[in-house]
Amino acid sequence: MLNLVVLCSGNGSNLQAIIDAIARGTIAARIVSVLVNNPGAYATERAAQAGIPCTIIDHRHYSQRADFDQAITQHLKQVQPDLIVLAGFMRVFGAGFTDLWQGKLINIHPSLLPKHKGLNTHGNAIAAHETMHGATVHMVNAEVDTGTLLAQAQLYINSDDTAESLQARVLVLEHQLLPWVLQLIASGELVLASNHAIYQRRRLTEPLLLPLKPKKTQA
Ligand code: GRF
Repeated sequence: MLNLVVLCSGNGSNLQAIIDAIARGTIAARIVSVLVNNPGAYATERAAQAGIPCTIIDHRHYSQRADFDQAITQHLKQVQPDLIVLAGFMRVFGAGFTDLWQGKLINIHPSLLPKHKGLNTHGNAIAAHETMHGATVHMVNAEVDTGTLLAQAQLYINSDDTAESLQARVLVLEHQLLPWVLQLIASGELVLASNHAIYQRRRLTEPLLLPLKPKKTQA
């Protein structure tokens, strides 16, 4: 049984997707702790409804990032997770933190990395006239959105898509992608090493693709 800690900052719909997949028996895992950096995050409600302990570590109470990272590390050392999942967690960790938890830290990002790192990914994909967009689950290292890519889910951008419509469509994919990756890790099919991953006993050289056929709905 894979022990997960899920870190969130806001709505927590990806957290909910993990909770639901575990409840359906799709992932042999349990969430031992939900950690949020924002007391107003709806993710706290979702954790409460699912009976999962939730800890708030408010970044605004720490003047130095290293101290905030240290507070999170202390909590993680108490709960001893097998895997730490950043699911809509909007804080950037320092290298001390990412080095310490190397091989145990994954993030979901709403773009087809390495394209569109950082924020405003949906608007940026439209502005760049991309034909495809999507989401990526990747390992986390000291540089934002650059760790080993584990898996992606893709869609076509429609001619009438806006940043908002794209965000909504990508989020639906995220809710399938993240549980899928967790299921692969929980089953041992996907193994995380320090800075690379092994899939079916071979080193992963490109991200796995969520098995979905992208539909082209362009007018
Ligand atoms: C998701 O798009 C995630 O990829 C991004 O922030 C959003 C969070 O959504 N980092 P939620 O809090 O899981 O609903």
